[in-house]
Amino acid sequence: MTAAQSSASGRYPAGGDAFPHRSLLGIAPLQTHEILYLLDEAEQWVELNRRSAKHAEALAGLTIINAFFENSTRTLLSFEIAGKRLGADVVNMHAATSSIKKGETLIDTAFTLNAMRADGIVIRHGSSGAVALIADKVDCPVLNAGDGQHEHPTQALLDALTLRHALRERSQDCQDFNGLTVTICGDILHSRVARSNILCLTALGARVRVCAPPALMPDAVEAMGVTAFHDFDAALAGADVVMMLRLQNERMEGQFIPSPREYRHLYGLTGSRFRRAARDALVMHPGPMNRGVEIDSEVADLAGTSLITRQVEMGVAIRMACLDVLTRRTRGVPGWARLAERGA
Ligand code: CP
Repeated sequence: MTAAQSSASGRYPAGGDAFPHRSLLGIAPLQTHEILYLLDEAEQWVELNRRSAKHAEALAGLTIINAFFENSTRTLLSFEIAGKRLGADVVNMHAATSSIKKGETLIDTAFTLNAMRADGIVIRHGSSGAVALIADKVDCPVLNAGDGQHEHPTQALLDALTLRHALRERSQDCQDFNGLTVTICGDILHSRVARSNILCLTALGARVRVCAPPALMPDAVEAMGVTAFHDFDAALAGADVVMMLRLQNERMEGQFIPSPREYRHLYGLTGSRFRRAARDALVMHPGPMNRGVEIDSEVADLAGTSLITRQVEMGVAIRMACLDVLTRRTRGVPGWARLAERGA
């Protein structure tokens, strides 16, 4: 059963292979216990990252290539920091300054990176499915750092880790998100973050509402196990978590909204609108934010409520966990060995 189909019914299997995937291409191929496993693995790195000396040697001698064909601040830097904190040699390839500009194809680029004997390749690409295509051509694990409108799996994992930490600080038992109502509002149609988060949050037991103008809502989105709204006030009513998304202008062909001002009026998270959510509701945004469009600063910067900078912190830990787990085969570290040690 995949994450898309399963509920948060249990922990990872004792004695089994806790993470049998060679690559991380999306949340959809993951089972719920595999999501929980990655979240649990990240906890050690949260702790390490809060120390003054943040160095581990798990990936010493390995080479990780970050190949980004689209712009990024958070994902690129956090994968780079993650690899370096684990002791790997990390190299960044930016499409804008690469031979892609001379006409080299994606496949030839993949063959080139593979020939350099990378031990892991992290890829962001503007086309849905491009990362899977590369994963098929190379010998090492490939991590999807966002492909078109398809998936952004490490974003969903870091969001789940952030939420779990925030809820635990409120003394709630939250191994999973059963009973939690999460409202995701924005450009659902073009958002790989929305897609991965819907898969991850529903797998972990949350009730997910999605809200967008009709032009920015995918057809048949309810088949993903969510409730769809066009009225933001209704979508916010009593929500425990409000996740705001940016308008993905770079993926839009033509006019999807009348104007940013009109969009803000109907779908912007203002202070007064946020009061419709549950009394102690939390706010998330994957970044980059368009302040004054989908979210106002009075909400984005609200201490104790906004998790936005915490999401960035958890991004490094999650990416360390993913790099560690996915390179264990190369390093001869069986994934299940640690579970057996812990008696899980
Ligand atoms: N959230 C996210 O993917 O941000 P970047 O585009 O800055 O990596």
